[in-house]
Amino acid sequence: MLHIDIITIFPEFFREIIDYGILRRARQAGIVEVRAHDLRDWTTDKHHVVDDRPFGGGDGMVLKAEPIFAAVEALTGFSRRDDFPKATRVILLSPQGQVFSQTIAQDLSAAEKIVLLCGRYEGVDERVAEALVTDEISIGDYVLSGGDPAAMVVVDSVVRLLPGALGSDTSAVFESFSEGILDYPHYTRPPEFQGMKVPDVLLSGNHAEIERWRRDAALKKTRRIRPDLLKDS
Ligand code: ADE
Repeated sequence: MLHIDIITIFPEFFREIIDYGILRRARQAGIVEVRAHDLRDWTTDKHHVVDDRPFGGGDGMVLKAEPIFAAVEALTGFSRRDDFPKATRVILLSPQGQVFSQTIAQDLSAAEKIVLLCGRYEGVDERVAEALVTDEISIGDYVLSGGDPAAMVVVDSVVRLLPGALGSDTSAVFESFSEGILDYPHYTRPPEFQGMKVPDVLLSGNHAEIERWRRDAALKKTRRIRPDLLKDS
């Protein structure tokens, strides 16, 4: 079973979202365990302060190192990156990270324990990135107000890759990005809707032809919308 621990100042954000769809099913099936923890639980002061002003001045507040190190130590048994077991990943979500991809999701799906640290405010004390985290991940070149939605994106994309999480074992094999290109277009009934027809070949029952059409349509769509994906192939 994959254990996922999320460290956040908004644990409530995750309560409902982990209770839908594939994630709910995977949790019920014992494939994954997802827990959201309040960073404030690892503060030692009366007011449970998790942030402070930046050294050197400037706007905004910075998440303090101490509660984050304490949280990771409580959840993993270690407070230094070099001490974690190989199958433990401690991930900081931030716009400064490596850009998330299906390849990274696949890599993470082989882990036994994933701790997700949700950044906030103007940033996180850099010593967290320096000594604690194994991966710093961004979900794209835009700025969120916090790492929580990014953590959820990582959880969703990793959990659906776990063996048994999807209805059939092959569902995750033939989809966008698994072969480095976009997915082919899908249609269902009716065969004609507001004058728009489903391509004849899909109604033909000729599986070889359908296969060819799908491959071709996927490539065309990739060339049009994401030519960058075809550059090295
Ligand atoms: N926190 C703020 N922006 C983010 C992003 N793009 N990815 C991950 N974490 C973030």
